[in-house]
Amino acid sequence: MMKRSVPDLLAVLICALLVVGGVITAPASQAATAIDARYAELGGAGGRLGGATGAEFCGLRGGGCQRNFERGVIIWSSATGAQPSFGAILSSWRGNDAENGRFGYPTGPEVCGITGGGCYQNFQGGAIIWSERTGAHISTGAIRVAWARTGFEAGRLGYPTTDEVCGLRGGGCYQNYQGGSIVWAPSTGAWLSVGAIRTRWASTGFENGALGYPITDERCTGSTCDQRYQRGVIAWTAAGGTVLGRDIDVAASSVVVVNKRRPLNPARYIPGPLVGVEGPLLRSDAAQQFSRLLADARAGGIAMVPISGYRSYDTQASLYASYVNRYGQATADLISARPGYSEHQTGLAVDIGISDGTCSLQECFAGTPAGAWAAGNAWRYGFVIRYPQGQTPVTGYAYEPWHLRYVGATIASEMRVHGVPTLEHYMNLPAAPSY
Ligand code: DAL
Ligand code: ZN
Repeated sequence: MMKRSVPDLLAVLICALLVVGGVITAPASQAATAIDARYAELGGAGGRLGGATGAEFCGLRGGGCQRNFERGVIIWSSATGAQPSFGAILSSWRGNDAENGRFGYPTGPEVCGITGGGCYQNFQGGAIIWSERTGAHISTGAIRVAWARTGFEAGRLGYPTTDEVCGLRGGGCYQNYQGGSIVWAPSTGAWLSVGAIRTRWASTGFENGALGYPITDERCTGSTCDQRYQRGVIAWTAAGGTVLGRDIDVAASSVVVVNKRRPLNPARYIPGPLVGVEGPLLRSDAAQQFSRLLADARAGGIAMVPISGYRSYDTQASLYASYVNRYGQATADLISARPGYSEHQTGLAVDIGISDGTCSLQECFAGTPAGAWAAGNAWRYGFVIRYPQGQTPVTGYAYEPWHLRYVGATIASEMRVHGVPTLEHYMNLPAAPSY
């Protein structure tokens, strides 16, 4: 081992001290001036902070400095200046790893006297909000943006009553407020969950239930409100004082969307139970409503017959192959789904026609009494015209005025009332022009 002389060791030691000193003293002087000025502005030892309990210390993340006082701290960074922090907000910030955590440095002082008598403080990564009744809670990211949309603490949600709680299904998080909750998931975004619709959603098991995560806020028109979820809708009417759950339809998954980007899963899926309606098979809920539709059309003097309902994977395979054979693949893809991609395989789609074959499976069907009746009335029975005119870039298929799809009465009437042209629009799904 090499031996060092005493003068050598002293030189190393002095050098190290200079380096350490150099690193900490440059910002320290700037920070000390700013911290002292802030302290004086806040009334010094006679102010809210009270006496200092130590000197400034530096070396915080990114070269920050801090000084502790009897009743708070002043934290300085070159980006954010010298900002005081106190009490519950300070504790919450510390609990979130202080300047090393997602909040970073405070960007302003605590601001008090907001609606309801609370205080907040902004940080680089969000805010911390306090009120006497709710304590101090964080507010950050997409959930904060959604809360802002409601008017922060002055809006219907009021103050946060929890921090964000994460680890929900699919990586989701929620935060509770006095007036409800905001629920976020990476694939669906952050949406409000409040009131009677929230209670109903809770009864289905929140995001773990049949409905999944919300995909909109609650939307109200007049005395009715609704909120959409990944797999359905909850509607509420003031008149009935009732929450109309989508769970009947949802339990039966009538809101499933099948298109060129959303194949059946599994590809050879077989729905059940299937019920025959004058030949073609439909899933029992769709069959029941379609039978009503047929009977009412006929009672109104409209000749209408079902042509095709449920088609198995293999039936669709041979149908598609025959179209490719006849018209070539490009045209076939515009008028027929490939096996594993047809709505007919769900048991929820039915092609209608007229018994004499007029305009059978042709665009001119729209101009027949049966076609016109279906366009005007199918929604009453929970059916929509799934491939409307002009929507080929979204649906991937040519206009099919004969192809009815059962989605349940609530969705069908909502699409009608709001003029929503396709299920892709309704469910916020991407267009599916091709495979
Ligand atoms: N004709 C429709 C698109 C189907 O084959 O499912
Ligand atoms: Zn069809």
